[in-house]
Amino acid sequence: MAKVPSVTLSSSSDEILTMPIIGMGTSSYPRADPETAKAAILEAIRAGYRHFDTAFAYGSEQDLGEAIAEALRIGLINSRDELFITTKLWASFAEKDLVLPSIKASLRNLQLECIDMYIIHWPFKLGKEVKSMPVERDLVQPLDIKSVWEAMEECKKLGLARGIGVSNFTCSMLEELLSFAEIPPAVNQLEMNPAWQLKKLRDFCKAKGIHVTAYSPLGAARTKWGDNRVLGSDVIEEIALARGKTTAQISLRWVYEQGVSIVTKSYNKERMRQNLDIFDFCLTEEELEKMSHLPQRKGVTFASLLGPHDIVLEIDAEL
Ligand code: A2P
Repeated sequence: MAKVPSVTLSSSSDEILTMPIIGMGTSSYPRADPETAKAAILEAIRAGYRHFDTAFAYGSEQDLGEAIAEALRIGLINSRDELFITTKLWASFAEKDLVLPSIKASLRNLQLECIDMYIIHWPFKLGKEVKSMPVERDLVQPLDIKSVWEAMEECKKLGLARGIGVSNFTCSMLEELLSFAEIPPAVNQLEMNPAWQLKKLRDFCKAKGIHVTAYSPLGAARTKWGDNRVLGSDVIEEIALARGKTTAQISLRWVYEQGVSIVTKSYNKERMRQNLDIFDFCLTEEELEKMSHLPQRKGVTFASLLGPHDIVLEIDAEL
């Protein structure tokens, strides 16, 4: 079974919060049926994954909860504490009074008493009427960062979340958050991969002690919203061939060597194992240099999902 290193996160408490560097993503489109998702998660635990990333919006919390219960039943793990579970506050509930009910709903879905990392999913609020995308302009609203973050802090104080964080937050939003946070965010989960390196925002997070986790580290290949710009890169493929690795392994290793942790999704047994097998080699200076010059393009913008509304255009421009 693969052994994955962990990173120690800031937790603003005596408890030491460590997170396995590689997490298994559970967002799939079209949504995997519950049995397929559950089987994939159990297979991932067998392969060595100990960090699972879900979100209320993915609809995969129940599947993950079932899989954790089954893993305990059949002895794949001895205790729930062997796993690190991340889930996210959906944008329609990004309101002070809705945060506690939301984390409690996620805990019920996951059949857990505590989430390891609870994250604000999107950096704005969506109206509750949103059923599909793109959405009407007045359904995208600014996030009241202060009041929502106070409720996130309450989740930690009540022991419902061991750590709290954000996702898709820009430098200016983080500045604002840090100006009043009693508990600073432990992580900022961002789209990041060799084709979207996000150096400025990563440097900012590092300077502020906020750990970055990369989502779509493979450019969300084989998905509706991703493409082949990472796994189809000639430069990465050439390095992979010379190293006897796959383009996916070179890409994930590059992310890891930037000091960033990874959430990557594969429900395929061979690929999920391959994605854990990145800790027996290092990229050379020359390889890193070549990868630093790859063409840069963000995969998914908020405007492409929600429409070209001012709030999302501003955030897209900063990310
Ligand atoms: P699959 O589930 O069929 O393996 P990201 O991690 O950037 O979000 O990308 C996830 C997508 O990349 C999934 O659709 C997954 O498809 C595919 N994928 C994951 N690992 C690999 C790999 N090692 N080689 C090729 N494709 C992969």
